[in-house]
Amino acid sequence: MENKVETNKESAKKRLFSAIQPSGDLTLGNYLGAIRNWVVLQDEYDSVFSIADLHSLTVRQEPAALRRNTLSMAASLIACGIDAERHPLFVQSHVHEHAELAWILECNTMFGELSRMTQFKDKSARHADNINAGLFTYPSLMAADILLYNADAVPVGEDQRQHVELARDVAIRMNGLYNGVFTVPESFIPKYGARVKSLADPTKKMSKSDANQNAFVLILDDKDTVVRKFKKAVTDSENEIVFREGKDGINNLLTIMSAVSGKTVPALEKEFEGKGYGEFKLAVGETVADALAPIRARYAELMADKEYLTKTLADGAEKAAYVARRTLSKVYKKVGLLQK
Ligand code: TRP
Repeated sequence: MENKVETNKESAKKRLFSAIQPSGDLTLGNYLGAIRNWVVLQDEYDSVFSIADLHSLTVRQEPAALRRNTLSMAASLIACGIDAERHPLFVQSHVHEHAELAWILECNTMFGELSRMTQFKDKSARHADNINAGLFTYPSLMAADILLYNADAVPVGEDQRQHVELARDVAIRMNGLYNGVFTVPESFIPKYGARVKSLADPTKKMSKSDANQNAFVLILDDKDTVVRKFKKAVTDSENEIVFREGKDGINNLLTIMSAVSGKTVPALEKEFEGKGYGEFKLAVGETVADALAPIRARYAELMADKEYLTKTLADGAEKAAYVARRTLSKVYKKVGLLQK
């Protein structure tokens, strides 16, 4: 379908939107798989970034922790290289249009569609005591995030692709019903994205909810901790540092080393030919620790300057709201809500 709508865009660049929930410290997996791509792509696009605190409420939160995690996520993102002075970085709940557009989208999203979301099925199985309506309508709120900014491109991990597809379907549906309201977004899994696995069980994704503390590295871990965790990384009983089927542990370490050092996997295989696993694990650990050191330092600086963080988020929300307000009022008008 032709998708010609007034897009609220000041620049000729395509718009990129992405968001992350403030669910505690970022892991090396979050950084290499997602955030670093935002950093790489931010200037190529007209980028908008959000901290999805409303989405976090779909699982039970400790209020003080949620507040703390939201500010800490802002500091982490900036420390990782998000340029919040050039690209709006804001807290989702600071721009009330998100919740408002979500309602309109919920009225245009089918029960059946939401029922088919695999994340809903997984999460309701895991939180059987709290299958709330928000958990169910979560993708409509996510669609609102995306559609408010007329995003063209939405970089997400594999687990969020289905939600972006739903946002697309709803945008297309409403464009048909109301004669072009939204830009139809596209998900993309960025090509730089490294899929980082658990250091304890390299067949699983790295996750900070892992009971084993050695399974994951946090971007704020100090050097000794990072090196220690890599030294303990599970490998295999062979002695060859090559990327090969069945060598999940070594493959993971090569992937991480390549992502962090910028060297290709074949170059690394050559560099470590004939070397032992112990030496290799130490080299990966030190390389990762050195790459994380400046992030950790910048994070500490930012957290010591709450005023700057608060002001940056307020500026981001103001810039975002300017776009969001225009989209929402257009949608309100198109669906027939009486103008004030
Ligand atoms: N649901 C996403 C996640 O948990 C975060 C998110 C919220 C998001 N709104 C978004 C991602 C809009 C991309 C676009 O990872």
